[in-house]
Amino acid sequence: MSMPEDLLARARAAKGFMPEDEGELLHEWARERLPHGPALEVGTYCGKSAIWLGAAAREVGGAVFTVDHHRGSEENQAGWEHHDDTLVDHDLGVMDTLPTFRRTIHDAGLEEHVVAIVGRSETVGTWWRTPLSLLFIDGGHGVEPARTDFRTWPRWVAAGGMLVIHDVFPDPADGGRPPYEDIYLPALASGAFTEVEAVGSMRVLRRTAGEAGDAL
Ligand SMILES: C[S@@+](CC[C@H](N)C(=O)[O-])C[C@H]1O[C@@H](n2cnc3c(N)ncnc32)[C@H](O)[C@@H]1O
Repeated sequence: MSMPEDLLARARAAKGFMPEDEGELLHEWARERLPHGPALEVGTYCGKSAIWLGAAAREVGGAVFTVDHHRGSEENQAGWEHHDDTLVDHDLGVMDTLPTFRRTIHDAGLEEHVVAIVGRSETVGTWWRTPLSLLFIDGGHGVEPARTDFRTWPRWVAAGGMLVIHDVFPDPADGGRPPYEDIYLPALASGAFTEVEAVGSMRVLRRTAGEAGDAL
C-alpha cells in the first residue's frame, strides 16, 4: 500500500534526508509490523522519515518513538556538508531541530502517532526495555555513533521484527562507511538478523534468531 496522498505531500515538503523510494519502503514495513508492537527511529532530525513511519501508524494503529538530541550530527554542524543555518539556535549557538520537527509533525496531523524522545541515543537506549516491531537506525554516521547505536538498539528488536538501516553503502565511492561496517555487517554477523530487502541505501533485516533483550 502506498503512502496516503496528504502525507506524501507532507513528507516531500519536510526538511531531511529520505529519498521517496526509501521512504516508501519504510512505510510499507511499518504498516506490516506496527500491529505487533511499537517502532522506534534513531535520528529524528526534522521529522521527514517520521512522517513515513507515522503515516503507517495512522493507517494501522500503533506508536512510533523517535530519538534525537536535536543538536545535529557532526556532518550537520557549521562548515560541514549537511549544515542548514536556519536550524541554528543563534542565542545558544547550537543546532536545534526540535522546533522544526514539532511543526512538521503538527502540520502533518501526526502528533497522536509520533512521540519524540529528546536525548542522546545511548542514554535513552540504556534504559529502554520494550521489544520493538521495527527499529530504524538513521542517527550519527561517524564510527563511534554507529558502533554505539549497534551496541544499544538492535537487541531490542522482537523475534520476527525488522531492523532497517539507512545510508548503507557497500561501495565506498557511494558514501560513508560506518552504517555499513559498524551496523549492517555486525548485525548480519551476529546471526540474529537476515536481510530481506534493499532499496537505495536502505537495508531491511528481519530478526530470525533470539528474542528482544538477548545480547547480540
Ligand atoms: C541523518 S539525520 C536523521 C535524518 C532523518 N531520519 C530524516 O529522514 O531526515 C541524523 C540525526 O541523528 C541525530 N544524532 C546523531 N547522533 C546522535 C546521538 N548520539 N543521540 C541522539 N541523536 C543523535 C542528529 O541530531 C540528527 O538529527
